[in-house]
Parts: sequence; structure tokens; C-alpha cells
Amino acid sequence: STLAVEVEQIQKGNYEHYMQKEIHEQPESLTTTMRGRLIHGGSKVKGVLLGGLKDHLKTIRRSRRILFIGCGTSYYAGLATRALVEELSGVPVTMELASDLLDRRGPVYREDTAIFVSQSGETADTLEALEYAKSFGALCVGVTNTVGSAIARGTHCGVHINAGCEIGVASTKAYTSQIAAMTMMALALGDDTLSSCNRREAIIDDLINLPNKVREVLKLDNDMKELAKELMEEQSLLVFGRGYNYATALEGALKVKEVALMHSEGILAGEMKHGPLALVDENLPIIVIATRDATCSKQQSVIQQLQARKGRLIVMCTKGDANLMCPNGGYRFIEVPQLQDCLQPIINIVPFQLLAYHLTVLRGFNVDQPRNLAKSVTIS
Ligand code: G6P
Repeated sequence: STLAVEVEQIQKGNYEHYMQKEIHEQPESLTTTMRGRLIHGGSKVKGVLLGGLKDHLKTIRRSRRILFIGCGTSYYAGLATRALVEELSGVPVTMELASDLLDRRGPVYREDTAIFVSQSGETADTLEALEYAKSFGALCVGVTNTVGSAIARGTHCGVHINAGCEIGVASTKAYTSQIAAMTMMALALGDDTLSSCNRREAIIDDLINLPNKVREVLKLDNDMKELAKELMEEQSLLVFGRGYNYATALEGALKVKEVALMHSEGILAGEMKHGPLALVDENLPIIVIATRDATCSKQQSVIQQLQARKGRLIVMCTKGDANLMCPNGGYRFIEVPQLQDCLQPIINIVPFQLLAYHLTVLRGFNVDQPRNLAKSVTIS
């Protein structure tokens, strides 16, 4: 009906598509995710308070293992925060795709904390994995965007990511808010030891900087449109990442394949020599994520090795690092602002979201409802 069409236009505001709107509203959705959760002490922010978790922090800290369980983008958000949770809590984190945990009937123990990550809170496999973990007596925690959803109701405690309603089938703002919420969870889990004090303060400072940095990286919109024009006829796109940005490589490739309907694969750069290198030639486009962090020099040598095979590279690096990363030049760069390593995935995914969006529009596909996909997979 015309009314429905008009309502939709009002909801989209000045944007053509929901996905586009949701990408561009991330400075605001991230602000909402953090609102009321940063504890101010004196002139500084001292820590985080997650109301839905505070009575269970001790139990989680004492658990033998933490499991991150989810599907699709929500699984990747867990992967992006895994290292920080391990660093600050000292508890080992195991990653589980919900369907695979169920297929294996993998072992779960009373001493485990199982964290269920789901935007909708209704995904069938994640929900079934919740019932499965509960039956073994594990503490079950929800990280959801939907108040009152099945996973929010079925878990013992949890965190709402408060990203606001997400309509585009491909998750964008929910992903960045999941990472922000789980970063706050990691901070809440960590103890206040003197040795971790500087690290914690630096992360909290950058959480506060986050919305402005996302605003900054969104200015790459036009550059990503240009890149999309260059890549629109391609069959395939590889994305190399490692460390905190292994998740970015997987999630970036997922965005490209699910909306632009272009084959794309995220690859752990450490595995390059174990197969992917065979694909490299002067035609196949490859995005290498090499922003500054502890793995950056390893990525530099990956770039050199890809160069030696005449790879067609697009390098994502920290602003000002282009010359450092590729002294011989000749490549395309995506230069992004820098944050603490654990928050960098939130910045780095944005150019991929923009690229996937523009590729989709240029290729003439449906942005908000990709072929064969559903927003919420409630039947497994
Ligand atoms: C579907 C959606 C994805 C989402 C996944 C998990 O595949 O299209 O965007 O990441 O389900 O959904 P959930 O609601 O559990 O996060």
C-alpha cells in the first residue's frame, strides 16, 4: 500500500536503503550501547557497570572456560573480542558455531560459562545450543539486541547491546555494538590489578573516543564507492587478517558475499602459506588488513610476500602508514584512524560495510533483502 511505502521512506530518512542508514548511524548506536555504563570517578571514567551481569561476575571469573556461541555475524563479534576476554579475565575462551556444537554434541560442564551472542535473540541453532548448555548446568549469558527475545529470556543473565532496531538483513550496527558491549564485559570481568590498570584506562578512553572515530572512518564512503566501481565485475575477493582483525577479515568477506553476491573469503594471514598463496596472481583482488598492533610487522611481511607474487593488493592501514607498509607504492590504500588494538575491529569493519553496500547497488542487487537470506533464521 502507499501508506506502507511512505512509512518505510520515513524510517529510512535520507537514505536509500536500511543497510546504508544503519551503517551511517553507527556513531549514535555505539553511543547508546555505552550510555549509562561507564562509571565516572572524579574527573575520569574509572570502570564499567553492566547491570545485567554484575551479580554474576564472580562466577564467570571463576569458571574453567568461557564459550562464545553464535551464528553468522554474531559469532564473528565473539571472535573479535575473544583475545581481550582472555587477556583481562585469564579464562580460556572457546569459539563455537551453534550448529557445530550441536552436531558434535560437544562437551559442556557445570564450571563453564556459555555466552550466547545473537542480534535477534531468536536464531534456532543458538537457542537450541542454549537449551543444550543449560542441561549441563553451565552458567548461560545472553548478549542480544532484542529485549524480551527467547535468548534474552532463556539465559541466566546478560547484556543488552542497545543498538536499536536493525532492519537490513546483513548485520552492520549490531556487529559493532556487540563488540563494544563485549569489550565492556571484558573490562567488567577483569580484576583491578595494578598491572592491567593502564591497559584498562586506555581502552576506556578509546571507548569514549569511539563514536568520533567511527564518524571519521565513515568519511571513506566515497573512496569505497570508487573501489566498488573498480571491483564490481570481479568474481572473487580475498581478505587477509590476523589477530584482532581475523574477525574483520571473516566478517568483511561475509558482507561482500551476502549482499553483493560476490564470492569472498576471509583468510587468517598466518595460514597463507598453507594453501591460499596458490591463488595469488595479478588479477585476483586481495584486501590485506595491516593496521597497527602487535601483529602489524607480520602483516608487513605478508604484504611483501604477496607483492613478490605480483598480487593485486589493497592495503588497509593506519592513517599515515601507507609508505611504511608498502615503500614501493603502486597499491590502493584504505587508511583508517587508530584506536586500542581491541577496538580497532569496530573501525576496520566500516570500510568493508561501505564497500559491500556500494558493490551491491552497482551490481543491481537487493541491498536490504539479499537473495535466499532471512534476517532471523528461526528454523534450522
Ligand atoms: C542471519 C542474519 C545474520 C545474522 C545471523 C545470526 O543469518 O542474516 O545477519 O548474523 O542470522 O543472527 P542473530 O540474530 O542470532 O545474531
